[in-house]
Amino acid sequence: MHIVVTGGAGFIGANFVRRTVATRPDVRITVVDALTYAANESSLDGVGVEFVKGSITDPAVVDELVAPADAVVNFAADTHNDNSLTDPWPFLDTNIRGTAVLLDAVRRHEKRLHHISTDEVFGDLPLGTPERFTEETPYRPSSPYSASKASSDHLVRAWVRSFGVQATISNCSNNYGPYQHVEKFIPRQITNILSGERPKLYGAGANVRDWIHVDDHNDAVWAILERGTIGETYLIGADGERSNREVLALILEATGRAPDDFDTVPDRAGHDLRYAIDSSKLRRELGWAPARADFAAGLRDTVDWYRENRAWWEPGKAGTEAAYARRETPR
Ligand code: NAD
Ligand code: DAU
Repeated sequence: MHIVVTGGAGFIGANFVRRTVATRPDVRITVVDALTYAANESSLDGVGVEFVKGSITDPAVVDELVAPADAVVNFAADTHNDNSLTDPWPFLDTNIRGTAVLLDAVRRHEKRLHHISTDEVFGDLPLGTPERFTEETPYRPSSPYSASKASSDHLVRAWVRSFGVQATISNCSNNYGPYQHVEKFIPRQITNILSGERPKLYGAGANVRDWIHVDDHNDAVWAILERGTIGETYLIGADGERSNREVLALILEATGRAPDDFDTVPDRAGHDLRYAIDSSKLRRELGWAPARADFAAGLRDTVDWYRENRAWWEPGKAGTEAAYARRETPR
């Protein structure tokens, strides 16, 4: 099987490529990545897959890559909510137009597409209720990022229905693990501590995210690629709900810091309160289950990874924090 992995130099894509190479030696991989600020080419060091620098918004690049492949797994996206509040335009271009370019190519060449999406398309849930997102939950995105991902999902469904494109969609909850950019919550707090800085918590830290280890997400993607029904959507989640404050407490504990050794900073505009995934369809129909459901243990491994891989994250750290410093004034 020959797959094109878009966004393979980013967090989840690079982990997907690494895991696939390690566990499925019969799969040939071509990575295409625009190498935006969010990419890190060294995430693929030593992996030995074909790499093409290019954008999914470029029809010529996409056409040439899709033609000889069997399937496309689309991880490429602009992904950080905070950035989408500062400048939404790259999000609209890559996430919406880029997905349309991919759809056009897989339609022309009659290839399989799996589109990676997010639970944020459903908006947010109230705190302290048993309510969770399902495949039937109506779309209600809050940020330019989540609205652009929602748009991309609608495009995939439209191409399936109108043109018979062989596509599936997955909407996953918050991922954590190695190779995640230091702009994101968990790596930011870990690398702040490793740099002698204090973690930064938005608002009161009451917002809840539903954490899943990146390897569990990627195993679910393979289950859908191999056994999923064309045209279907699958929600991916590992029952990992924690408030940001709880996650930060675990990071402080794992790094030997005092429980109150952090700053609170002004909250994100329009900040979604809570996400929670009901992944029972995926578990029931495709037999997937998370193998790394112990979040505290996975988080300790992640702390260790950032401790042991300073050369991977240190070059980007100062620039990321300078951008945050322009938006945040500690209270
Ligand atoms: P990331 O920001 O770490 O990586 C995105 C990658 O896409 C980068 O390497 C970037 O260079 C590349 N890219 C951006 N624009 C491109 C373009 N026009 N053409 C080609 N490549 C381009 O993101 P991530 O966290 O790995 O997320 C991957 C996918 O998973 C995204 O679609 C995201 O919406 C989705 N997702 C992420 C999470 C999460 O918690 N991180 C959860 C659910 C879904
Ligand atoms: O739910 C899936 C989504 O998870 C993905 O679609 C997105 O691509 C991914 O970035 C992530 O979105 P979030 O906005 O939930 O992730 P982020 O890491 O930016 O923030 C997680 C929570 O932590 C959120 O409630 C905001 C808060 N936060 C974030 C940062 C960067 C802080 O309290 N302090 C911080 O410094």
